Amino acid sequence: MKKLVVLISGQGSNLEALIAARDAGGLGAGIAAVISNRPQAPGLEKAAAAGIPAVVVDHRDYPDREAFDAALAERIDAHAPDAVVLAGFMRILTDGFVRRYEGRMVNIHPSLLPAFPGLNTHQRALGEGVRIHGCTVHFVTPELDHGPTIIQAAVPVFDDDDEETLAARVLEAEHRIYPLAVRWLMEGRLRLEGRRVRLSAPAGEPAVLIAPAIGSGVCRAP
Ligand code: GAR
Repeated sequence: MKKLVVLISGQGSNLEALIAARDAGGLGAGIAAVISNRPQAPGLEKAAAAGIPAVVVDHRDYPDREAFDAALAERIDAHAPDAVVLAGFMRILTDGFVRRYEGRMVNIHPSLLPAFPGLNTHQRALGEGVRIHGCTVHFVTPELDHGPTIIQAAVPVFDDDDEETLAARVLEAEHRIYPLAVRWLMEGRLRLEGRRVRLSAPAGEPAVLIAPAIGSGVCRAP
């Protein structure tokens, strides 16, 4: 059975979606541990309730990013995971840390990258007056929120939206696409070609339209 380590900083609703997929047999991996850089992260309790070891590596206990990332890597590597899944993990990572997990570390970001990298994505989308917003699952590379895209989901922006209603709509989409992307990774179906991620059909199955229900996140197997 393949293993994941999930990193969180907050609510852990994406973690919950991953746990639900695991329980339904749709994740292709178990979750060996959840690590939070914030001791108060509500997601820690969600992990514990699901019987997953939940660990805190508090960034405030370390003098700099290098020291924090080294401690984090030690905790991750103790589980020898097949992939590291960032699920609302709100820390900038050092290049060394990112390279250590290159090709097996993924992130979910609440915008249609490359639009709105960084923070306050919903507020900025509303401020720009965009009509389509969404979320992106991507491989993590040293440049913040800029790695190759695995899948995106688009949602409409309505005239009466505020940050809260828009965030809720995007979050719902996040919960649909993240488990799917992680499963593809665990099944070994993702292949990098430059900045493009190619998705192959499941072993022994013909090419199909894989995600017609996911707005712009439509992928066709070769
Ligand atoms: C999610 O919207 C996720 O996309 C975002 O934080 C939220 C975490 O929610 N991540 C980032 O902004 C990373 N750049 P959750 O803790 O309920 O999963």
